Parts: sequence; structure tokens; C-alpha cells
Amino acid sequence: MIHYHKLGIVPPKPHITMYEEGKLLMEQCFTRQGFEGPYSTLYFREPPTDECAVEKLAIPGFCPFEPLAEQPLYRRHIRTQELKASGDFLDARRVLMFNSDIQMSMVKPTVSSPRFFTNGDGDECYFVYKGSGRLESMFGVLSFREHDYILIPRGTPYRFQFDNADNELFAFEGTGWIDVPNEWRNNHGQITDYAPYSHRDFRIPESLLAYSEATHGKAPHKLVVKRDNTLTVHQFDHFPHDVAGWDGSVYPVAFNIHDYQPKTATVHLPPTIHITFAGNEFVICSFVPRKVDYYDKDGLKAIPCPYGHASVHMDEILFYVAGNFTSRKGIDSGSISLHPAGIPHGPHPGTYEGSIGHERSSELAVMCDTYKKLHLTTVAHDLEDKDYHMTWLQKEGG
Ligand SMILES: [Fe+2]
Repeated sequence: MIHYHKLGIVPPKPHITMYEEGKLLMEQCFTRQGFEGPYSTLYFREPPTDECAVEKLAIPGFCPFEPLAEQPLYRRHIRTQELKASGDFLDARRVLMFNSDIQMSMVKPTVSSPRFFTNGDGDECYFVYKGSGRLESMFGVLSFREHDYILIPRGTPYRFQFDNADNELFAFEGTGWIDVPNEWRNNHGQITDYAPYSHRDFRIPESLLAYSEATHGKAPHKLVVKRDNTLTVHQFDHFPHDVAGWDGSVYPVAFNIHDYQPKTATVHLPPTIHITFAGNEFVICSFVPRKVDYYDKDGLKAIPCPYGHASVHMDEILFYVAGNFTSRKGIDSGSISLHPAGIPHGPHPGTYEGSIGHERSSELAVMCDTYKKLHLTTVAHDLEDKDYHMTWLQKEGG
């Protein structure tokens, strides 16, 4: 939830008659936390409830995914670069890591989707590593571009339409919720002036979804729904996302990571200063190019490279996007590192000392810290650099 918005036509009050060209529109209240939380109210040209068929669907690697049977305690390096691209945004989705609060997936679609999808299990946050296009939902059309985060509230029917075939999305699914954290809001819900972004940085659906047979096809129209990690396909003999107007505070938004305003201090700040979004028992953080720590007094200088740390309550993943990853060796753009609780982690040999005197960092990365242990899937294990855990070992001549 970002702020109140209205698009298209709505009546002067909720729950009263609303006609378009003499036809009564069907109101739908889209509510969170029962009727206590944020909500939006939509006006449909055709009821979104009259399905004509329901059938089961399986997409191996997504629903269902296969957990790795045994997971010894290692630092992990998952090379998403090796994952094959194919299909639409559902066929291409592969769960890499999960716990009861979150699932993280890599999605490499090559084609736009003919079908819509509703995630009934949780909010989603996509990071667009590569690609651009339009997110179509019942709230309208939201354009997206490379390095956008796209937040999609649970229960929203949507689909991705891409500009070309080269698309890579890193997807977080939060069982509870994903939103701007409370620490970046005041008591009235407004984003504070000291937050790393403002309301103006969030983009919202710019136009309503106009049904056309050319772009949305003929009936039956298909909506894939995920609930309890099971997929069902719901069919309609009319286009079920045809909305004349809506208003409220729940709808998809996009935020580009390059609009994130990083914080820097005299000495190194903990990674929590980079929090961008929060969920139930996890946070998503943005590392963007920035000036680094600048303590310089009596011959003593700040060390800009992260210190070694044992964050004993959290597993940590980093998705590396671009720039110079100062603390890690052997990591490329598209790599994911998993540093689990139970053992400490820190910069690779040489990088700690080497960072002294640096004035800027060019790294661009997305981090996620989770309170509960992250389990790997067999897909993630197949993509692993199995030597990563031992790469901190100082070798002669190395
Ligand atoms: Fe860390």
C-alpha cells in the first residue's frame, strides 16, 4: 500500500448504483486482513465470479517444486546464469529457496502470456533483472523497465507482456505481506522525509485495461490461481478483468532501484540501513552505487568493505546485478549467494584491506534476510557452484 488513488469512473459513494451506458456495473471490494486492512473498490462490466470451468494444473519446479532432501551447512553460490529460458512467466518460474514465510524464484520468460495469474498465497515482489514491458492487471496497465521492483498484492489477477524475448525476473513471494516497512512511514501512513524514497518514486497503473480480442484472445479466458502451492485454471466465457473504474489503496506499483536514495556515514552502516521492503519475518534491501564511508582522522580511515559478521538469527541472500562486488570473488552478475545463520561470513581475502581509501562503490544488488532457515530446491542445487564455501581459504600465491 502506497497511497489512495482513483482511476476511471466510480460512484460518489461505495455500495450504490453505478451505470455505464445504462448498464449496472458490478462492484467488488478487494480487502486485506478481513475488512480491517487496506482495500480498493472496483467496478466490473461483467461479474468476475461467473466461471464456467475449473481444472488442475502442474508446472514442475514452480507448483510443485522439489525441496533438496539434505542440506548440509555451507555458504552457497547459485548461478542463475545457467537456468534455461523458455515459456511465459508461469511456465518459466522456478523456485530456488523457500521457508514458511517466503519463496524466491527465478523467472526467465521468452514470450508474453496469453493467460492471467492470481497468487492467492501471498504478495509478490518481482525484481526486473532484464527486460521491459507492461504488467496488465484488473487495476490497469503498469509499464515496467529494467531494474524495477514490481509489487503485486495477493489476489490480484495479472499477466506480463514483454517487449522482447530476453527477460529475467527475480521473484519474492511473501506468505504474509510485502510492503514499505513501518520505519519509513509516519503514524499517518505517509512515507517520511528521511525514507530512502518518496511517494513520487512509486509508479502506479497509468490506464485501465481495455479488452480487445487481438490482445486478450477469444473465450474461454483462462486465469491460473495459486493457493496452498497448488494451481487451478479457472475459465470464463467473457473477459473477467474488464473494469470501468476503481479507487483505493491496494494495487500494483513499480519502483526503480536507481531511485533508491542510499545512506552513507563516516563509518560503515549495517546492511539494515538499505531496507527497501519488508514482509513477515524477512526484509528486502537495495545496494546501489553510492559514496562510501569517509572517516579519516589522525591517520586512521574507515574500512568501506563490509566487516565479517555472524547475524545469528538470519539467513542472508544477495542477488548480484551490476558493478564491482567489493566483498566477493567468483561472483558474477546474476549470481545469488546464500550465507546461512549458524556460521559467520565476511569479505573474501584481500578485499577488506583493498577497500581502504575507496570513495565510491558501484555495486548494484538486492539482498533478502530471513529469520527462518532457507531451504534449497533441487533446481537451485543443480545451479550451484559447489566450491563456493571453501573460497575464503587463503591459498599460497592466491
Ligand atoms: Fe552479510
